[in-house]
Amino acid sequence: MKGQGESPRLDCRIRPAHAEDYEEIVSVWKASGLPFSPAGRESREAFSTQLRNFPTSYLVAESGGRIIGVILGTHDHRKGWINRLAVVPEHRRRSVAGKLLASCEAAIHAQGIEIIGALIEPENEDSSAFFERSGYRNDVPARYYRKRQRRDI
Ligand SMILES: CC(C)(COP(=O)(O)OP(=O)(O)OC[C@H]1O[C@@H](n2cnc3c(N)ncnc32)[C@H](O)[C@@H]1OP(=O)(O)O)[C@@H](O)C(=O)NCCC(=O)NCCS
Repeated sequence: MKGQGESPRLDCRIRPAHAEDYEEIVSVWKASGLPFSPAGRESREAFSTQLRNFPTSYLVAESGGRIIGVILGTHDHRKGWINRLAVVPEHRRRSVAGKLLASCEAAIHAQGIEIIGALIEPENEDSSAFFERSGYRNDVPARYYRKRQRRDI
């Protein structure tokens, strides 16, 4: 909810994420209640490797010298994917995620990728509303299957 007298849009800066941002980014995910796999694809080592592959689409939003939002944009050469988008609760509904998404989409499009998807848990109404508002359509009936090599990832 927007606070009284608070400007609707937060004046934040979107910039590429760096390996040294790892701990602050994890704090944003934790504050946002996103599940987090420290032993798997969200480990510090995995994050650093991914950063080297996606230096222009792993982005953070900064305000007052602190990271307040994050987005991890990837692609598999066919489609782009939005992963781990989160904004700290106290700065929501001030267009931070909108700015992160616009920058991330531009970076993915610049790689020649024209379709971008996002996997959203069915009960995540905030995220569904955000993606609908951002032009994404839930028009592919799909079930998400996965096979994990280990239980802790
Ligand atoms: C989803 C999330 C990233 C949105 O971040 P945000 O910075 O608040 O989003 P924005 O301010 O850019 O929202 C843009 C528009 O999306 C829609 N929207 C965003 N959050 C919404 C909500 N909770 N309810 C309804 N509409 C919403 C609105 O139309 C909003 O515009 P408005 O504020 O002018 O009405 C944030 O709620 C969050 O971090 N959630 C927890 C983590 C999460 O679930 N991530 C998604 C994983 S797929």
